[in-house]
Amino acid sequence: MYKRSFLDISSLKREEIDGLVRLAARLKAEKKAGIEQQYLQGKNIVLLFAKDSTRTRCSFEVGAFDQGARVTYIGSSGSQMGKKESIEDTARVLGRMYDGIEYRGYGQEIVETLAEYSGVPVWNGLTNESHPTQFLADLLTITEHSDKPLEQIKVCFAGTADNNVALSLMVGCAKMGIEYSAAAPAAYHPDATLVERLRRENGARITISEDVATAVAGADFIYTDVWVSMGEPTEVWAERIERLAPYQVNRRMMELTGNPNCRFMHCLPAFHDLETTVAQEIHRQFGLSEMEVSDEVFESEASIVFDEAENRMHTIKAIMVATLSEQPETTF
Ligand code: CP
Repeated sequence: MYKRSFLDISSLKREEIDGLVRLAARLKAEKKAGIEQQYLQGKNIVLLFAKDSTRTRCSFEVGAFDQGARVTYIGSSGSQMGKKESIEDTARVLGRMYDGIEYRGYGQEIVETLAEYSGVPVWNGLTNESHPTQFLADLLTITEHSDKPLEQIKVCFAGTADNNVALSLMVGCAKMGIEYSAAAPAAYHPDATLVERLRRENGARITISEDVATAVAGADFIYTDVWVSMGEPTEVWAERIERLAPYQVNRRMMELTGNPNCRFMHCLPAFHDLETTVAQEIHRQFGLSEMEVSDEVFESEASIVFDEAENRMHTIKAIMVATLSEQPETTF
């Protein structure tokens, strides 16, 4: 992975994904044992966040600090990029100053352009189309919470099965041999051509169904995400709530899996209570006090969402180390 960018899951081989998760697990164990080795001393990293973030930003910052690198954070209004300076020119400038560039924002073509013109590794911190660093954290979390070989694990995504998180999860599961299903209304099914390609190229076992019972049967992990993603207009709320309400992850859905050991996953943030201004506004307009997941499931023993959130940092750290360090033990 040395000197390579990390732009989407599709462009990675199974061995590379496996190598990144193994490296993350090692760095995690070494950090907890107080024996972490620093591979990024002297490196400078810039974080471009055109959209807000808690987990991804903090993961890049803490991961870089742990590894001895220095970080510059630039928010949505903190640079000339896209306003007075093109993506291409910005990439060429940043590539002269930094060893690696993270980008969170809009189209996938933006991270691809940054990678093409900067000459340094670029990491996708979320685009409209994909959220590949999230998948690595999901995979590490799945391996920590299951004793089964990957080929015997089933992951079911409930809700907006065509959003960036769900698509990276589906592609990642296909690459890793994990069975994947989605419980979703037809309007939010992933592109059928992509599903067919994953089946053809990876022998992927993928079921996309409007029927909740069919999709969740036998699942080891139920995964969901917010019904409206960052950047989408508030006008879509009414339609999303009406269509997605039957796909809320709640106790009934968890029981429908037939698997008492089924775990609940969520990339976060989650609308499971009324403790946020957005949730309060939704409650005022639509009367809902929880959305994609019930508070009962979110707070249950089955919920592993905070392990998953912590693993964002260990896996993002692994991505930075693998792409910026040429030490033999980080090279694969
Ligand atoms: N899951 C995730 O990407 O979280 P943030 O939006 O807080 O980075």
